[in-house]
Amino acid sequence: MKFSERVLAMQSSPVRRLLPYAEEARAKGKKIYPLNIGQPDIKTPESFLKAIKDFSQEVIAYATSQGNNDLRDAISRYYKEFNIPFDREDLIVTNGGSEALLFAFMTMCDPGDEVLIPEPFYANYNAFAQSVNVKVVPITTKAEEGFHLPPKEQVDALVTPRTRAILVANPGNPTGTIYTRDEMDMLASLALEHNLYIVADEVYREFVYDGLKYTSFGHLPEILDRVVVVDSVSKRYSACGARIGCIACKNKDFMAQVLKIAQGRLCVPTLEQVGATALYSTPKSYLEEVNKEYQSRRDTLYAALKKMPGVICSEPKGAFYVMVKLPVDDAEKFIIWMLQNFDVDGETVMASAGEGFYATPGLGKQEFRLAYVLKNEELVKAMDILKLALEAYPGRIEPVAAR
Ligand SMILES: Cc1ncc(COP(=O)(O)O)c(C=O)c1O
Repeated sequence: MKFSERVLAMQSSPVRRLLPYAEEARAKGKKIYPLNIGQPDIKTPESFLKAIKDFSQEVIAYATSQGNNDLRDAISRYYKEFNIPFDREDLIVTNGGSEALLFAFMTMCDPGDEVLIPEPFYANYNAFAQSVNVKVVPITTKAEEGFHLPPKEQVDALVTPRTRAILVANPGNPTGTIYTRDEMDMLASLALEHNLYIVADEVYREFVYDGLKYTSFGHLPEILDRVVVVDSVSKRYSACGARIGCIACKNKDFMAQVLKIAQGRLCVPTLEQVGATALYSTPKSYLEEVNKEYQSRRDTLYAALKKMPGVICSEPKGAFYVMVKLPVDDAEKFIIWMLQNFDVDGETVMASAGEGFYATPGLGKQEFRLAYVLKNEELVKAMDILKLALEAYPGRIEPVAAR
C-alpha cells in the first residue's frame, strides 16, 4: 500500500524512539532513571478528580467546539491575573497544547509555506509542520550562547515571501531558555515588518527561576492581533493525560477560521474539561511550591553537569529541561550504549538524543536533553551514573574547546 510523502518525511519522536531499548533493559532487570521525557512526577491537584466525581449529568454529551464556557472563563481569569487580556471569546479549548499548535499551522499556512523556529526546538513541531506540508526554517541557536537568538539581521535574512510565522517556545523546551525583552521586541518588529504571526508556545509560563520576571508575547500590545498563544494544563498542573489546552488570539478573524477546524473535530472531552476547570482554581501556593521544587532540581542537575569534564551546558532559566553537549561521538549511540552495555549496581540513565530537536542536518549529534522530572535524591544518583558512563564510554572524544 502507498503511504503519503508527507507521512514518510516525518521523523519519529526523539523522545519516544529509544523506548524499545529501555524496555529491553528493564526486562533484563535494570533500573532506569527516565530523564528522557517531560512527564512530571508532581501530584495533580485533587480538585481535578473531585470535580469529575461530582459530575452529575446523566449523559456525557458533546461539549461545544469552542470548549465549555466555565473553562474558558476560568482560563480568561487566569490570563487577566497575568495582565494578558484574553476574554472568553478569544479562546478555543483544545486537546492539549498539541492540538492548538496543529490548529495554528492549519490556519496560518498553505502547503509550501514556511515557519521560522529557533532550533533546537520541541521536536513535535516537525510533526505538526509536516502533517500540513509546511517547511520549518530553523533559526539556529547554540549551547555556548545559552540558546539565545542571533542578531536581527540574521533572522531577517531567513524571511522569504513564503514565511507566515515565527514560532517560539518561551520558556524553551529543550533549552530551558527564557528570551529577554530585547529578543521579544526584535521578533515583534520582524513580525510587523513582514506581516507575520507570532505563535507563542507558553506551556511552561509558570516555570521561571531565579526570580526572573516573565514577559508573555500577550504583553506586547503592538502585536496583539498577530500573537497566537498556545497553552496547556499538562505541565502547569501536572495533568499531561488530561489533554486540555487552548489556542488564544485577540484577532477575531483568525479565531473564526480556527473554529471551523475545531467544529470538524467536534469537541474536547467533556469530563476532562470539568476537571480542568477546577484546576484553574488551584491556590497560587501550589504553583509556588512546584516552582521551588523544579528550581532546586535544576540546581542539582546543573551543579553536577558543570563538574563533568568536557560537558557544555548553560544554566536553564525555565521549563524543566537542559540541553547538554557531550564529549561523545554520537549522543544517540551513547544513550543506547548506556541502556544496553552500562550500569552502576544495576542502574542506568535514559535521555533524549539531541539531533531530533534540530532541523539543520548534523546539528545536535553530540547533544542530549535531560528532563529534571525526578526527585533530587534520584537526580543525584542519575548524575553519578552519567559521570561514570561518560568516563567509560568507548566513543568518548576529548573536547576541542575547554568550558
Ligand atoms: C514546548 C511544548 N509545547 C507543547 C507541548 C504539548 O503539550 P500538551 O499537548 O500535553 O499540552 C509540549 C509537551 O511536552 C511542549 O514541551
